[in-house]
Amino acid sequence: MNYRHAFHAGNFADVFKHSILLGLLEAQKQKQSAFCYFDTHAGRGRYDLRSEEAAKTREYAGGVQRLLTSTRLPTALHIYVNLVRALNAGQGSELAVYPGSPLLASLVMREQDRAIACELQPDEAAALKALFRGDARFSIHERDGYEALKALTPPKQKRGLVLIDPPFEAQAGEFLQIEAALAGALARWPNATYAVWYPIKLRQHIVPFHRWIAERSGATSALVAELLLHPDNSALRLNGCGMAIVNPPWKFDRQLDELLPVLRELLAQSRYGAQKLEWLKAA
Ligand SMILES: C[S@@+](CC[C@H](N)C(=O)[O-])C[C@H]1O[C@@H](n2cnc3c(N)ncnc32)[C@H](O)[C@@H]1O
Repeated sequence: MNYRHAFHAGNFADVFKHSILLGLLEAQKQKQSAFCYFDTHAGRGRYDLRSEEAAKTREYAGGVQRLLTSTRLPTALHIYVNLVRALNAGQGSELAVYPGSPLLASLVMREQDRAIACELQPDEAAALKALFRGDARFSIHERDGYEALKALTPPKQKRGLVLIDPPFEAQAGEFLQIEAALAGALARWPNATYAVWYPIKLRQHIVPFHRWIAERSGATSALVAELLLHPDNSALRLNGCGMAIVNPPWKFDRQLDELLPVLRELLAQSRYGAQKLEWLKAA
């Protein structure tokens, strides 16, 4: 396992993923009853952008850094930018830290809500445990997130949101693991919302996953949002990314419809840019 998120923290893919995540968490908060946030691949939670890894790639400069001075943003993006700004208050114009998915979730969760966060890499898991020591809402597991999803669902709260955000070191293999985990989770906890982030290199790598969701997963409704900064025809670079959302909240497609063009414009790397929003339905 070589992947370290510190090299990529705050890049365009994180902006995409984390703004959608915050929109999904806001939807959970529409009801007063507690929800459970389940993060299968949580990372270390907080990334030092002055670390050797982040300084080497500076990917955040083409991502979150670009949004800091933007105004009039769609709600989820506005919440996201404000949280990043607040964490960096007093640090000058260059960002110093970046919040990963569990930290962002913790900043918007209420007292009654609960979170389960899994991380397999021991150093990352240790950092995550240290970050959430003292936060009784969170339970942190140094454990395979797919296996934990099977063992720990459905949670007591009965309703909730699962983020599946794996490293995709081997694209086809990761999709197969996601499918197996999602099929089991949907059988045990059918009403949860599941958000699966995926990288886009070659389009043909993604088609079978979409087809599986539409035709074989057992999901009753699924929505896909994608952002492409380059055409999806090269295996050699991250051309874009997507989020497949099973059981999306009511009217969430409208929020995404507003969010995606703004992301495309603010995060563009060239004159090319595309977005996609599609319901996955059996053919
Ligand atoms: C893309 S990063 C996660 C980033 C995080 N979700 C965020 O948005 O801030 C993927 C993480 O999964 C961890 N990982 C890899 N395989 C795993 C597994 N089977 N179960 C849990 N964590 C795993 C990696 O160490 C890495 O920290």
